[in-house]
Amino acid sequence: MSSRLTRKPDRTKAQAESKTGAPSDGLPQHVAIIMDGNGRWAQQRGLPRVMGHREGVKSIRDITTECRRVGIDRLTLYAFSTDNWKRPRGEVAFLMRLLKHFLIHERGELMDNGVRLTAIGELEALPKTVQRELEKTCALSAGNQATTLCLALNYGGRAEILNAVRQAAERVRRGELEPADIDEARFRSFLYDPTAADPDLLIRTGGEMRVSDFLLWQISYAELWITERFWPDFRKEHLHEAFEAFRCRKRRFGGLPDSSRPSSTAS
Ligand code: FPP
Repeated sequence: MSSRLTRKPDRTKAQAESKTGAPSDGLPQHVAIIMDGNGRWAQQRGLPRVMGHREGVKSIRDITTECRRVGIDRLTLYAFSTDNWKRPRGEVAFLMRLLKHFLIHERGELMDNGVRLTAIGELEALPKTVQRELEKTCALSAGNQATTLCLALNYGGRAEILNAVRQAAERVRRGELEPADIDEARFRSFLYDPTAADPDLLIRTGGEMRVSDFLLWQISYAELWITERFWPDFRKEHLHEAFEAFRCRKRRFGGLPDSSRPSSTAS
């Protein structure tokens, strides 16, 4: 993070949650972001595509710092998908170098800000040097209490679901689990991070109207907010635009608002 913060987040977990577990200030607890538009940002400036990725790191710093400042519990960033390996070799190599650089050089800032770093995805397929730096930063920051920054790396939603299905099937094959016992809670226990609450808000930059294999299980009831702005131009004021839109959404999770319920069942 670029700006060092020495004070506590403005919103502690206890302050933020009402009795129902919903944030009392209307902020999402878990924000997930599809950081798109890096290549177009660079191309518009006559730069190689990879310069957009490099510039995108500044947005990561700004958004992580702001999430931490306002007390967001968890920020999940789609940094590299299982399908991104299809990109030109030079671009993939650049992204891996950038990731390694980020893990080494942001370590101090993450620690100063009390940010815990975690990752989801098929991490064993990442270059060994990246895995080492990732493990170091995750281990070092494991006790941090402010925002959790989760990087989705070599991540695919279908791959995550398949991986969970295989684990569940293996437990059934060994006679440790009955198929009927596989309910939502049990299934979640086989996801990459079973402890993570589902995202409340999914932001996508770059204007595309799709979810691109991101957190397919977890975004069932996430509010979607899409901006035309490219990721390298996305800053905290734009995050607050998304928060404002989120505050205006009526989340019903398939139910009805209290005002529409028959009076006998309304509580
Ligand atoms: C999509 O933009 C973005 C990516 C595939 C990579 C995102 C990576 C970063 C923001 C920086 C590296 C991350 C870390 C954690 C150091 P795109 O290239 O698809 O853009 P386009 O749609 O304009 O082509």
